[in-house]
Amino acid sequence: MKYGHFDDNRREYVITNPRTPWPWINYLGNEDFFSLVSNTGGGYSFYKDAKFRRLTRYRYNNVPMDSGGKYFYINDGETVWSPGWKPCKTELDSYECRHGMNYTTIKGVKNGVEAEALYFVPLKTWAEVQKLTLRNTTNEVKALKIFSFVEWCLWNAASDMENFQRNFSTGEVEIEDSVIYHKTEYKERRDHFAYYSVNEPMQGFDTDRETFFGLYNGFDEPQTVLEGAPCNSEAHGWSPIASHYVEVVLQPGESKELVYVLGYVENAPEEKWESKNIINKTKAKATIARFDTAAKVDAALAELNAYWDNLLNVFTIKTGEEKLDRMVNIWNQYQCMITFCFSRSASFFESGIGRGMGFRDSNQDLVGFVHQIPERARERIIDIASTQFPDGGCYHQYQPLTKKGNNEIGQGFNDDPMWLILGTTAYIKESGDFTILDEPVPFDNEIGSEVSLFHHLTVSFDHVVNNLGPHGLPLSGRADWNDCLNLNCFSNDPNESFQTTENKSEGSQAQSLMIAGLFVVYGRDYVELCKVIGKTEEAARAQQHIDAMVAAIKLNGWDGDWFIRAYDYFGNKIGSKDNEESKIFIESNGWCTMAGIGLEEGMVAKALDSVKERLDCEHGIVLNNPPFTKYYIEYGEISSYPPGYKENAGIFCHNNPWIMIGETVQGRGDRAWEYFRKICPSYTEEISDLHKVEPYVYAQMIAGKDAFKPGEAKNSWLTGTAAWNYYAITQYILGIQPTYNGLRIEPCIAPEWKGFAVTRKFRGATYQIEVKNPNGSMKGVASLTVDGKAIEGNTIPLMPVGGTYKVEVVMN
Ligand code: BGC
Repeated sequence: MKYGHFDDNRREYVITNPRTPWPWINYLGNEDFFSLVSNTGGGYSFYKDAKFRRLTRYRYNNVPMDSGGKYFYINDGETVWSPGWKPCKTELDSYECRHGMNYTTIKGVKNGVEAEALYFVPLKTWAEVQKLTLRNTTNEVKALKIFSFVEWCLWNAASDMENFQRNFSTGEVEIEDSVIYHKTEYKERRDHFAYYSVNEPMQGFDTDRETFFGLYNGFDEPQTVLEGAPCNSEAHGWSPIASHYVEVVLQPGESKELVYVLGYVENAPEEKWESKNIINKTKAKATIARFDTAAKVDAALAELNAYWDNLLNVFTIKTGEEKLDRMVNIWNQYQCMITFCFSRSASFFESGIGRGMGFRDSNQDLVGFVHQIPERARERIIDIASTQFPDGGCYHQYQPLTKKGNNEIGQGFNDDPMWLILGTTAYIKESGDFTILDEPVPFDNEIGSEVSLFHHLTVSFDHVVNNLGPHGLPLSGRADWNDCLNLNCFSNDPNESFQTTENKSEGSQAQSLMIAGLFVVYGRDYVELCKVIGKTEEAARAQQHIDAMVAAIKLNGWDGDWFIRAYDYFGNKIGSKDNEESKIFIESNGWCTMAGIGLEEGMVAKALDSVKERLDCEHGIVLNNPPFTKYYIEYGEISSYPPGYKENAGIFCHNNPWIMIGETVQGRGDRAWEYFRKICPSYTEEISDLHKVEPYVYAQMIAGKDAFKPGEAKNSWLTGTAAWNYYAITQYILGIQPTYNGLRIEPCIAPEWKGFAVTRKFRGATYQIEVKNPNGSMKGVASLTVDGKAIEGNTIPLMPVGGTYKVEVVMN
């Protein structure tokens, strides 16, 4: 069952039934000011950091689901309703929500009145702009009472939810003209406030939540709205809100547009005040003035659309597969922008409080984003590398506002350092900008500790080399990519965190085959980079370590039909035929096949066949099999999940593309394509009722074959799945790979594909690539021409900037 449809021309997903099986959301803003908005108007806003600068309040996991947001209430004299159905839940005559590229419109029709709310964050603006369009489609005059609503958060989203003995006494607002200002704590250490305006004189307002709703009423029945009269309340403590009251009379056929601005301001300490206790509103007024007419709002939206045209024009495909094209051309790239912006911090599954930017996560996110805005990728790489330590270890997460490493989670995840090599080389291959390697970058953000970024790559590489276990394989530390395989944790105390407890870290010998494969793949990237920049000795030194690792994997990591997953604290194998449960895991088989380890000896094919046989199912490839059915203290969190969920035999989508890429190493385009389709959201749209989350973005996890409800997805939006699937489809299946000195074309496709077309902007030139597959091949390029001229090999050399070039590729 579907709840809407794709509108590819407008790059929108159109939801036509508000009762989606889970709130289906969108993100507004892509630089400093952000909002999350659901298909019924739920959600919240923040500036840069969802924890430290939360502007509006949101209650996660509430009853009913998705309560609180940016709401409009309409009292038409007979009925009280909302354009998004929620919160009033008055049955609408029609409903439509369109989620587009950083904007959302929600339209409801009731009793002949059409109300459409547009929400977006204009470019370079610290505000969300809302345009409410009201239309009278009847032959009668309509007198409407419009109430807006937002609820302020007291800035720190964590303390906002817990420190009520203080919070209930701090709230302060100012009201001037049609603007409601939220200035809690501005008097003391804060130099920022928020505001909510409307571009019409208001006939009333409310800023005190209890007065607006009535203490025992829900979002669906605010007392003032039901009574059709605001109370002009001024909040002192308790819970400040902002609600404007505007009366609108519409003649038959008439329409009216109201513009609301929800913004954020920072003032320098000496400019904080206009007069005693009266805040300096200059910046707020300037922003409000930029959007004080509907025409200005429309122009800003057009700018945002043009911005997205530009971003999405860098890479477009035409394959004849509508569902594939819409993912690659629109939604997958869009999701990559979102994961770039938020890492794993704020979604409807991530509270915005717990996790900031992840070291491994944000590096991986770059491979889906770097072609869109390389300059921003560059900045991110420097930020990430600045949280590293001199020995190559690094903070697992950092806070976006302060950019400081998060002490609570600390370090010790031994895969982390290698991802910096991926992020950096992906950036240089895309941009050709080698100067980033000379950029001075501190350790642990300490001024004076700066070394070149290249040095950070060296210590990343050496962190693995310096942390090898008894089998010559990398020590896993707290955990490798699989945060839940905690091999030193040994926790039997429910009050301990699996992620940070290391009851047996001293002298731990637990080793990871996932890091081993990762090291080979990105170690080779490091070697290649060293060679390209003339560091041949370093390249040779590094190569020796890689060769040794390959040998160690073949010797100690091969189980006969697949690669084992790890050695535990005691030196026992994990993910081996000898284990009672979880005999095989996806990660090590993904990384070792991507690295092509034992390709000639048939190990890659065998490992991939074992994955197919034991891990693949209707909805994707599960992480391990058979699932753990009891708690293994020596494995940690992974065995805490019920079978089929999360890291215990869930389809953890992030790692499925590792197998797809592994299949392309083996040359089996049919398998790669089959795996791609299984988890690709646009291909699961038809089963949205089972799948549950948005059909336009990837989710972290789909319940696996052993779960109670196989096929049910969770944790949409903020997952490395977005970048990895984009990377797998564009670079390994379609095979368009940026390299240091050109664009390599190496498709690995299903034999029934007759060909496909790609337009790729790369280093200032545009390549119109036509791939032909006359013989139904899966891999291998027979010939390549650029503007009719034959090229040796399969790499298009860099062509003069500004030009457009026709590239024809014929497969074997
Ligand atoms: C985390 C990743 C981790 C993965 C597997 C995700 O939720 O963001 O850092 O690698 O889970 O455990």
